[in-house]
Amino acid sequence: MKQIKIAPSMLSADFSRFGEEVVLTAESGADLLHLDVMDGSFVKNISFGPKFIKEARPYTKAVFDAHLMIVNPWNYIERFAEAGSDIITVHYEACKDRLKSTLRAIKSLGVKCGAVINPDTEVSAIKDVIEECDMLLLMSVFPGFGGQKFIPEVLPKIEEAARLIESTGKGIDLEIDGGITLENVKAVKDAGANVIVAGSTVFKEKDRADIIRKLREI
Ligand code: DX5
Ligand code: ZN
Repeated sequence: MKQIKIAPSMLSADFSRFGEEVVLTAESGADLLHLDVMDGSFVKNISFGPKFIKEARPYTKAVFDAHLMIVNPWNYIERFAEAGSDIITVHYEACKDRLKSTLRAIKSLGVKCGAVINPDTEVSAIKDVIEECDMLLLMSVFPGFGGQKFIPEVLPKIEEAARLIESTGKGIDLEIDGGITLENVKAVKDAGANVIVAGSTVFKEKDRADIIRKLREI
């Protein structure tokens, strides 16, 4: 059994006091801090860029998990690496034929890498690059906004992705992102995911440590 890791999505944090939010979330037991980067082009929303991450970096030693929802991500990975990302994930849909080279470029910068697929992309799309990945991220909502409803059709894809990872014999993390709640987190884990992103579920609660513990233990 792989270790269950909880990755609060900082998209739901108060950006006017982001440094404090980072400290509080890390101290509440988060294993990774999930940083959603949106460019208004790959997705219909704009969040923040490398400068924002760089300025948050001194506040914590927690693992920064940068989820790039941007077009032409290869043009920016160096800046996200320099900003202090520990892992950078890029979308298959944004890279297509350049996915493998982009993953390798991330690794060459000394940063862990991962591929992301949207709810309507088959797991088979990333079969050829799975060996390059430290993490595979499956979206359980269409990316762009926090607070959306979990798409249950993704559950069999989690099982399929878990089998693909198993076949590599490598301890590749399987992350799930979008609409995770206390009600569906068990099904997601049972299907084989071990890294759980949760934005609104974590940030709507006053006691962040308690909700992170519940998400981990359920
Ligand atoms: C969606 C983002 C998610 C999102 C998660 O585009 O990638 O990380 O912020 O938020 P919740 O948990 O509220 O769906
Ligand atoms: Zn995300």
